[in-house]
Amino acid sequence: MPFISNERSIKWQVQIFIVICLIEAAFSQIRYSIPEEMRKGSFVGNVAEDLGIDAERMKSGGARIVNGDNIEYIKLDVDKGTLVVGERIDREQLCGQTSPCSLNFEMIMMNPMQLHSIVVEVLDINDNSPMFPEKEIHLEILESALPGTEILQESATDPDVGINALHGYTLHPTTNFNIKVQSSPNGIKYAQLFLFNALDREKEENLLLTLTAVDGGEPQRSETLKIRITVLDTNDNAPVFTQSIFKAYVAENIPEGTLVITVSATDTDEGINGRVTYHFNRMSYNVAELFSLDEHTGDITVNGQIDYEKNKMYEIGVQAKDQGGQSTSTKVIIEVTDVNDNAPIITLTSFSSPIAEDSSIGTTVAIINVKDIDSGKNGKIDCTINTKIPFAIRSSLKNYYTVVTDGVLDRERYPDYNITFTAVDEGRPPLSTNKTLTLRVSDVNDNAPVFAQRHYEANIIENNSPGFSALSVKAYDFDSGQNSRVTYLLIDTQFNGNSMSSYISVNAESGALQAVRSFDYEQIKTFKVFVKAQDGGSPPLSSNATVKINIVDQNDNAPQVLYPVQTGGSLVAEMVPRSAEVGYLVTKVVAVDVDSGQNAWLSYKLQKATDRALFEVGLQNGEIRTIRQVTDKDAVKQRLTVVVEDNGQPSRSATVIVNVAVADSFPEVLSEFIDFTQDKEYNDNLTFYLVLALAVVSFLFLTCLVVIISVKIYRWRQSRILYQSNLPVIPYYPPRYSDTLGTGTLPHVYNYEVCRTTDSRKSDCKFGRAGSQNVLIMEPSSTGTMKTEKSILDELGTPLEVSSVMLIISVSP
Ligand SMILES: *[C@@H]1O[C@H](CO)[C@@H](O)[C@H](O)[C@H]1NC(C)=O
Ligand SMILES: *[C@@H]1O[C@H](CO)[C@@H](O)[C@H](O)[C@H]1NC(C)=O
Repeated sequence: MPFISNERSIKWQVQIFIVICLIEAAFSQIRYSIPEEMRKGSFVGNVAEDLGIDAERMKSGGARIVNGDNIEYIKLDVDKGTLVVGERIDREQLCGQTSPCSLNFEMIMMNPMQLHSIVVEVLDINDNSPMFPEKEIHLEILESALPGTEILQESATDPDVGINALHGYTLHPTTNFNIKVQSSPNGIKYAQLFLFNALDREKEENLLLTLTAVDGGEPQRSETLKIRITVLDTNDNAPVFTQSIFKAYVAENIPEGTLVITVSATDTDEGINGRVTYHFNRMSYNVAELFSLDEHTGDITVNGQIDYEKNKMYEIGVQAKDQGGQSTSTKVIIEVTDVNDNAPIITLTSFSSPIAEDSSIGTTVAIINVKDIDSGKNGKIDCTINTKIPFAIRSSLKNYYTVVTDGVLDRERYPDYNITFTAVDEGRPPLSTNKTLTLRVSDVNDNAPVFAQRHYEANIIENNSPGFSALSVKAYDFDSGQNSRVTYLLIDTQFNGNSMSSYISVNAESGALQAVRSFDYEQIKTFKVFVKAQDGGSPPLSSNATVKINIVDQNDNAPQVLYPVQTGGSLVAEMVPRSAEVGYLVTKVVAVDVDSGQNAWLSYKLQKATDRALFEVGLQNGEIRTIRQVTDKDAVKQRLTVVVEDNGQPSRSATVIVNVAVADSFPEVLSEFIDFTQDKEYNDNLTFYLVLALAVVSFLFLTCLVVIISVKIYRWRQSRILYQSNLPVIPYYPPRYSDTLGTGTLPHVYNYEVCRTTDSRKSDCKFGRAGSQNVLIMEPSSTGTMKTEKSILDELGTPLEVSSVMLIISVSP
C-alpha cells in the first residue's frame, strides 16, 4: 500500500534516462524513469525537447497520448511539451513483484502524423516495511526440549522489490533461541527459530523474543514480531531439602505426638512435579515404630517410647519425593538426651550368711554391685546402708561396695540383721533403690548354761522309794543348737564317806534329781548336792548349782522306853509305901522317839492297871502318881501298862509294863513277886539258841563271801582280756522297781538294778539270765533287829553276765 510513503517526506531523486531514438520520419521512442509515489503534476520528462519537436508543432499537431494501459498515471502537458504525473503511482499496486515496472504508451501527433513510443519506468522506492502476518504469537515449549529443536518458521513479506525487499531477520535475545534465515525455493526468506540453549522453566518461565524482519532499503524498514514463549515444566528438578542434615534433640520418655523436627524440601518444578511428600527411607522396624513422619508437612513426631539407654542417637533417612518421580534423601539425626528415668540396680555379688557371732571387726559380709544405666549425673550412684547396725559399707572398686562388720555381734541379742542398701543417683529428682538382706548370725558357744536358780532346795520324805524324783533343776543356754544342748551332771563329792552318786543321781537330759536310795531321816537330815550343767559346745561351757536336800521326817519310829528298863529276866518293881500320900510320885516312864517334831512328841496313857483308881500317868511327862490314899486293902503287886504314843500320823506307840509293889518292906515284896521269875529258865535257853544261830549264820556268810570274791576276781580278769571298752561308763539308775512278792501284803518292796552298759544314754541294760544273779536280801524286821540271808543261786554264766549285779532290798516296815 503506497499510502505510507505519502505521510513521510521522502527525498527522492529522479533519474532520467532519455533515450532518443530517432525513428525515421515518423517513429521514435523515448524512455523515462520516475520513482513511484510522485505527486500529481510532478514533472516526468520534456518530451518536446527530447523528441526535438517544436512546442508549436505539438500544439498544432494535437499531440496526445494514446493506446496505452494505465494512461491515467501520465499526462501530457501540450503547452509545455512535458509529461507530468497524472495520478499517484504505487509501483506495488501497479506491478506487484514484477520488476521492472513500466508504463508503455504512445504519443500521437497529426499533420503529419507522428507516433512516438514513450516508456515510463516506475522505479521502486522503499515505501513498504516487511510485514508479519501477526504482531504477536504465543508458543509453549517443554523445558526439556533439546537444543537444536526447531520451534517455528516465520516469514515476513515486503512488497517492495529489489533492494527494498525483505532482506533478513534478527532475533533478540538469543540466549536460548536463535534463528536461521532460510530461503524457500520460490525465493521467500523465512526465519527458522530453533532452541539454542536448553531452557529452564525454573529460571525463566516466560520468554519474550522479538523477531525483526528488515528490508534492504535506505532507510531501512523493519517490522517486529513478538514471540511469547511459555516454558512448560518438566519434572527436571528433584526436591531439595532446606538443610543438608537435620539435627534435633529429644529428651527420652517424651510423650507421643511431640514434634521433634520438621524437615522441609522444595521442588522448583510446578504442579505435581513440585508437590513434595516426605517418606522415611527404608530403615529398621524399631526406628520406624518410634517416629512418625507426616507425609505432607514433614513433621517428625514421637510415636513410641524413646529410651536413651537403648539408643542414644537415631539417624533416619528421609526422602522427599515429588509426584513426577524425582526424589532426594537427607539424613535426620535425632539425639536423645538422658532423663533420670532409671533407678539404680543393686546386685548381690556375694553374701556370707550366716556369719559367726565372734567374727572380728572388718569381716566382709557382702559385696554388692550397683549400676545405673542412666548417664552422667543421672548414673552416678551413692550407696549407703541403714544405720544402728554394726555394719559399715565401703566403696571398693568402681560400682562395688563391701559391707563389713563394724561392731560386736551377739547372736543371743540380735540373731539377725536386716541390712538395707539404699542406692541413690544424682539425677534431678534423684531415684533410689532399696534392697534388704537378712543376715543371720550363727552361734558360737559363748554362753554357759545358766541355772534358773543358783540354789535349789528340795525335800525328800524319808523312806522314799529309790528313784523318787525330788526336783528337776533347769539350766538354760542362750546359745543355739548343739551349743545350747544342756546336759546335767552330778559333781561327785564325798558324803559320809560315800560317793554322792550313791545317794542321788541326776538325769542327764531332764535334770531330774532322783534318789538312789531310800533315806532315813534318823541318819541323814540334809545334804548338799552340786549339779553341773554343761552345754554341747566345743569346748563345752558349764555352770554349777547347789541343791540342798532335806530329808523330811516320817513317823517311822515308835517311841522307845528308856525307863523302866524292860529286861527279860530281871524283875524291876517300884516301891510305894503304904503311907504314900495322894499324888505320890511312883516313877516316871521315860521314853524317846528318834523321830522329830510331832512324830517325837510323846504322850503317855495308862492302858491297863491292876487298880485303875490308884494310879495315873501324866499325859505329858509320863509321871506315875497315886491318885488316892493307899490302903491296906490294896494288893502288893500292882501291874500298870503304860502306852507311850507319839503324835505322828498315824501315831506309833510303845507299851511298857511297870511293876509297882505296894509294901513297906522288901521281904514282903519278894514273897509277892516270886512268880515274876518263873519263865527265867526259858529266857536263858532262848539266849543260848540265839547265840548259836548267830554263830552259824556268821560262818556261812563269811564262807560265801570268800567264794564270791574269788569267783569275781577270776571273772574280772577274764573279762579284761575279752572285753576292752574305752567308752566311758556312766552309771544309770532307771527308776524301776516292782513288788517282788506280788502279794500286796508287804507294800514296800523295791527292786532296783545296777546296770553296767556301754552307753549311758541307752536305757537298756545288759542283764544276765535270771538264774545267774547274785541276790542279797535284807529284811529289817518291825522290831528293828535285822536278819540277813544270802545265797548264791547259781554258778556264773558268760563273762559279760558277770558284770551285771542285781540287788534286791526288801523293806517291810
Ligand atoms: C527383718 O525383716 C523381716 C521382714 O520384714 C522382719 O520380719 C524382721 O523382723 C526384721 N528383722 C530385724 C532384725 O529387723
Ligand atoms: C563348780 O563346782 C566345782 C566343784 O565344786 C568347782 O571346782 C568349779 O569351779 C565350779 N564351777 C563354777 C562355774 O562355779
